[in-house]
Amino acid sequence: MKIIVGITGASGSILGIKLLESLKAHDVSLILSENAKKIIKYETDYKEEDLINLSSRIYNNNEMDADIASGTTRFDSLVIVPCSTSTLSKIACGIADNLITRVASVALKERRKVILVPRETPLSPIILENMLKLSKIGVDILPPVPAFYLKPKKIDDVVNYIVGKILDSLGIEHKLYKPYSPQ
Ligand SMILES: Cc1cc2nc3c(=O)[nH]c(=O)nc-3n(C[C@H](O)[C@H](O)[C@H](O)COP(=O)(O)O)c2cc1C
Repeated sequence: MKIIVGITGASGSILGIKLLESLKAHDVSLILSENAKKIIKYETDYKEEDLINLSSRIYNNNEMDADIASGTTRFDSLVIVPCSTSTLSKIACGIADNLITRVASVALKERRKVILVPRETPLSPIILENMLKLSKIGVDILPPVPAFYLKPKKIDDVVNYIVGKILDSLGIEHKLYKPYSPQ
């Protein structure tokens, strides 16, 4: 499967990194926004080189002439995780001013799968309206919300659950969380 992963400057960069680790068997193109690079440094011990090793290829967010900026380059799915509300709102309005938003715009016009993992709280009416607009045209809005009924013990459990839900949405099998079973 050819997957594009975008990591933007919302909190929760570990979710994007763990997704890359789970997609090693696939062809993954990674785009990091400049703000994502800052947040990754702030929130994790990962270096940009580590992320290069976790992906098939990496792009700068200002590479507007990249192959993936064109609808002629095939890919199956785009996942933006975490997705800032700024990037989500730009996508909802058709703004394509960097590689991540351009690839999203291409994915939408080519009717390809798009999964956005927006992290923000609380949510303003503007963001909620933009989420609804995207959801109505088939975008998966997948907020990083824990399943408390699975009784997570550590942050890793929550991260694995969210990454597992992204893989579910991509149709990729995994064992990152145990499905619910009644006690
Ligand atoms: C420490 C830190 C945490 C942030 N967390 C969030 C967040 O969780 N959600 C969000 O929408 N924006 C967050 N932001 C703001 C975004 O980084 C900012 O809107 C930026 O313009 C997003 O750009 P990008 O989408 O191109 O990466 C955060 C900024 C900082 C410095």
